[in-house]
Amino acid sequence: MRTQVGIVGAGPAGLTLARLLELAGIESVVLENRSREYCERRVRAGVLEQGTVDLLREAGVAERLEQEGIVHGGIYLQFEGERHHVPLAELTGRTIVIYGQTEVVKDLIAARVASGLPLLFEADVSGVADVESERPRVRFTYQGREQELECEVVAGCDGFHGVCRSAIPAGVLRTFERDYPFGWLGILAEVEPSADELVYAYNERGFALLSLRSARLSRYYVQVRHDEDPADWPDDRVWKELRLRTELDGWTLEPGPVLEKGVTGMRSFVTEPMQYGRLFLAGDAAHIVPPTGAKGLNLAVSDVRILARRLVDWQGTGDGAALEGYSAECLGRVWRAEHFSWWMTSMLHVAEDGDPFDRRLQLAQLRYVTSSRPAAASLAENYVGLTTL
Ligand code: FAD
Ligand code: DHB
Repeated sequence: MRTQVGIVGAGPAGLTLARLLELAGIESVVLENRSREYCERRVRAGVLEQGTVDLLREAGVAERLEQEGIVHGGIYLQFEGERHHVPLAELTGRTIVIYGQTEVVKDLIAARVASGLPLLFEADVSGVADVESERPRVRFTYQGREQELECEVVAGCDGFHGVCRSAIPAGVLRTFERDYPFGWLGILAEVEPSADELVYAYNERGFALLSLRSARLSRYYVQVRHDEDPADWPDDRVWKELRLRTELDGWTLEPGPVLEKGVTGMRSFVTEPMQYGRLFLAGDAAHIVPPTGAKGLNLAVSDVRILARRLVDWQGTGDGAALEGYSAECLGRVWRAEHFSWWMTSMLHVAEDGDPFDRRLQLAQLRYVTSSRPAAASLAENYVGLTTL
């Protein structure tokens, strides 16, 4: 099997890249080790930056997003029994759109299938070879047979646990990492959202986040230990904890049937460089952010926007220089998002052995961003996505 761009992974990064290349007339094959059903059911992120929405619109895959996506012009920060509004739109002129990653993935898969282009599910990639040559190869098992995909370029969009990153030699690859003792227990609940915009709540019991997916689906999170077993969190306990952490005079959190529940550990992780020879890493394969800044999905899309543009230039001119700056161009944004996500996480989460000094610092920071317009504007421009990088 042969193609121009071999794409490993059908998450937001791989599928968006495939779509952008299709529009530019560049051939690709997408290999995904999970089933289509699994990819379309995996509940993950939900906040799209305006830049992400614009790109999906330009790529012609935003029809349902335009109808069902919910535009928000602000978020709330809650602490010490008060809920403060951060008016994102007023501060930045930009908005965010609530639309689940699952929906983005469904739309992209549908578009790929409608175009009749190769997207192989349950195709398990074991490795990438010859990335220093002009004909890198992807090895994979599909329908019980080991096969090879010969490419001009390989895009490693296979997430944090993928195999592509390991094709960069140890002497070249550098990784930067920070682990947090926190995790998020997330639920998807069949109930009208109790708040009109997202609520990020700092509480001495731990952080909580109120988000949503639609007028009838709420998405809520509570800070737990990074290795917490969801089985220790029956629905009653989740609702009780959410209520305790978000309660406010004159406002109540409405509970409802829980459709999905899971724990995600938190981590910061960056790979440098994001390219080696003809291998290009994008999205979670190259970097992870803790979810507090809502950046993971948006960064994945921003990487492949840059990669697609460079691949198009390279195909048009035949000049390899077009590909060379990919890593450096991405990493500027990546580190900005890493900092913002670390900062939001540090401001809002409570360590189990909580140092009172740290709590005072967190509260001082929360009071500052909710009372100073420049401080709020800084949070806001990072949250909606910086346009200057
Ligand atoms: P992924 O979505 O991980 O896609 C990678 C794809 O590659 C997967 O489909 C995988 O099956 C496939 N793959 C892996 N290995 C192979 C292989 N060997 N062969 C073939 N295919 C392979 N971000 C937020 O902003 N907010 C959140 O609430 C949030 N929650 C999250 C919850 C979880 C459990 C996880 C894991 C992530 C969460 N994120 C969240 C982060 C966000 O979802 C990711 O940043 C986003 O999915 C990145 O997209 P991606 O395409 O780079 O990677
Ligand atoms: C959601 C996830 C996030 O990580 C976040 O910061 C805000 C919202 C969500 O899943 O809706």
